Amino acid sequence: MRMYDVIDKKKKGSKLTGEEIRFAVEGYVKKEIPDYQMAALLMAIYYQGMDDEELLELTNCMAESGDRVDLSGIQGIKVDKHSTGGVGDKTTLAVAPLVAACGGKVAKMSGRGLGFTGGTVDKLESIPGMELGLSQDKFFRIVNETGLSIISQSAEIAPADKKLYALRDVTATVDSIPLIAASVMSKKLAAGSDKIILDVTVGSGAFMKTREDAIQLAQKMVAIGEGAGRQTVAFLTNMDVPLGVAVGNDIEVIEAIHTLQGKGPEDFQEICLLFASHMLYMGGRGSLEECKAQAREAMENGRALEKLVQMVDNQGGDSSYITSPEKFSPAPFQQEITAWEDGYITGMDTERCGRAAVILGAGRETKDSRIDAAAGIRFWHKTGDSVKTGDPVATLYASDKKKLEEGTEYLKKAYTFGKERVEPMPSVLAFVSKDGVVDMGTNLQ
Ligand code: URA
Repeated sequence: MRMYDVIDKKKKGSKLTGEEIRFAVEGYVKKEIPDYQMAALLMAIYYQGMDDEELLELTNCMAESGDRVDLSGIQGIKVDKHSTGGVGDKTTLAVAPLVAACGGKVAKMSGRGLGFTGGTVDKLESIPGMELGLSQDKFFRIVNETGLSIISQSAEIAPADKKLYALRDVTATVDSIPLIAASVMSKKLAAGSDKIILDVTVGSGAFMKTREDAIQLAQKMVAIGEGAGRQTVAFLTNMDVPLGVAVGNDIEVIEAIHTLQGKGPEDFQEICLLFASHMLYMGGRGSLEECKAQAREAMENGRALEKLVQMVDNQGGDSSYITSPEKFSPAPFQQEITAWEDGYITGMDTERCGRAAVILGAGRETKDSRIDAAAGIRFWHKTGDSVKTGDPVATLYASDKKKLEEGTEYLKKAYTFGKERVEPMPSVLAFVSKDGVVDMGTNLQ
C-alpha cells in the first residue's frame, strides 16, 4: 500500500477502507509516513469528509495508538462527560462532585486549556497542593473508596490524536467536523468508561459557531460512540455568551464552589444539574426525575460540596480553599469596563472574551506559557441585560499591569449595545442520541 494512493483516493471523494485508514494512522505514529503526506490526507478529509464507518475506523485506530484504560477495577457503571470546550466552562468542577454525592462513580481524566477555551486540569491546579498526576492504582482506590477522582489525562492516551492535533493546528484543519469527532471520541474510547455524555457547545465562544454544525458534530460523535458499543448522548449548549459569570482559574473554582452552595449563576447551575442528573440516570441510579431530584438535593444539602472537599484532601490539595474560598489571593491589579451606551447588551463575542482572559494570563499564549491563576474576568452583565452608561459590565484581573491594559482594550470590543432588547439564547438547545435530535431551544441563527 502507498500513502500517495490513499491521499489520492480521499481527494477524489472515495471511501477509504479500514486497512487504508489503519495504514495511514499507524504509519504516521511510527514516523514511517511524513508530516507532509499526513497533512495532505487531513486536508483531503477536510474537504471530502468521512462516512460513519470510516470515522469509526479512524477513531478506533487513534484510540488504539496508546494505553486503553481498563476501568473494570472500579465497581458500577462508569459514565464519562466531555465538553467540546468553551469560555467559563467549569462544569466538571461542579458536576463530578454532584454525581459522586449521589452515589455515582466518577473516574475522570481531564485536559488543559486549548486556545481560548479553559481546561479543568488548569483550574484544579489553582488549588494549592492539588495533585493531578496520580498513579492508576491510587486513582482507582480513591474512586472505589469515595466515588470521585479527577486526574490529568496521560500522554499515553491516544498519542495519535496528540500528533494529529499538532499537525492540524498548523495546517488549518482543526475546524473539520469529522476530525474533531474522531479526536474527541478517540480519547473517550481510550479512557474506558461504559457510557459517554457529550456537551457540544455552540456559538461565538465554541468551535462550532452554528447550530447546524453542532448538530452534525454531535451526530458524528454519537454514531462513533454507539458504533464502539458505548451508549453515547449529546446535549447542545449555548456558548454564545460565557458560561456563568467567571472566566479564569481561581475565579472559576470559586464560582463552582458557590454553585455547589446553591448560590451560582442560573445558567451555570442549570447546566450542572442537567449533566449531573443525566450522568446518574445513565449510570442506572433511578428514573430521570429521581436523578434530577437527587442532584438538586445534593446541591442544597451541601453533600456535593463535601465531596469536592474530600477529593481535594485525597489528592493532596488544601481543602481550606474550598471551605473558605476567600483564601484565594486576589490579583494585584484590576480594571472595570463600564457601559458606554444606555440600552441593552445585544451581543458578546465569546471567543474574544476567552482570548481576553488568555491575554490577562489565565490561559497559555504558547504551549510553555505559565498560567496566572489569579487572572480572569468577572462579568456583571451579559447579553440581554439592560444597562445605563457607566454601569460596570465586567471586571478584569491580572498580575501584570500591561497585560491588564491590553486585555481590557481587547475585551471592550467583545460587547455590542443597542436600543432593542435581544432575547438571550436558552442554555440548552438540543439533545442528540442514536434515536435522533430533540429540539430544546430556539435556533442560534
Ligand atoms: N477538542 C478536541 O479534543 N479535539 C478537537 O479536535 C477539538 C476540540
